[in-house]
Amino acid sequence: MSEKIQSANEEDLKRLRRMLRKVAGHDLEAVKRRLERSAKPRPGAEEIRVLDIACGDCREAEVLGDFVAELKGAPEASVKLTGIDVRAREIADAARKFGKRQGMRDERGGRKFEFLTGDAKKLKGHAEMGEDFDLVFLRHQNYWNGARDWEEIFDQALEKVGDEGRLVITSYFDKEHALALEAIQKLGGELIRTEFNDETRELITPGKSMDRHVAIFRKKK
Ligand SMILES: C[S@@+](CC[C@H](N)C(=O)[O-])C[C@H]1O[C@@H](n2cnc3c(N)ncnc32)[C@H](O)[C@@H]1O
Repeated sequence: MSEKIQSANEEDLKRLRRMLRKVAGHDLEAVKRRLERSAKPRPGAEEIRVLDIACGDCREAEVLGDFVAELKGAPEASVKLTGIDVRAREIADAARKFGKRQGMRDERGGRKFEFLTGDAKKLKGHAEMGEDFDLVFLRHQNYWNGARDWEEIFDQALEKVGDEGRLVITSYFDKEHALALEAIQKLGGELIRTEFNDETRELITPGKSMDRHVAIFRKKK
């Protein structure tokens, strides 16, 4: 990868980090207040779990770990991220990049990574993955490229979100984002907030840019 592309990717990840904070801002405050009222032990006593669907080479893995720990009010907690994509080569790249860091501990708490090659329309077939994720994430969902398939993926994604968990999507295009918001709400997602990314990096295709929109959902009760 050229230095220029690498640096563009790094800048995209910094912007994604800011966007996740922005879209979850009010939610973060609500989670904090709920935790303060709750008699239960703070989350973080247990491992926090993230599922990154259609993750490609999952370059956002570390950003998501930090974000979910913050979202749960436990920056020091251990986080396990599971990434899945249908493209074996991308998954092999992700495993090469993050696999070695498994078990590493630092001031942010431990981070574990697991990458699976598989069809996200069939997440039920991956029993080893488990249920009740704290965060299910879809970066640059591709609803335009096969609405039926992506509706199935969104449906499976919502099933994996725990009662107190959140689904976050990002989109490259305005129209595709609007269509995805509509589809996810029809499938049982409750939209908490959606934000346009003012710092989004434009790509060559007109109207396409990195993490152009970011939306956060919970499951309808
Ligand atoms: C637009 S790319 C986004 C990739 C990555 N999340 C990113 O932001 O760079 C869409 C991804 O969806 C994956 N994908 C498409 N259909 C899938 C399916 N049925 N199951 C799992 N992954 C799928 C593709 O392999 C591709 O990596």
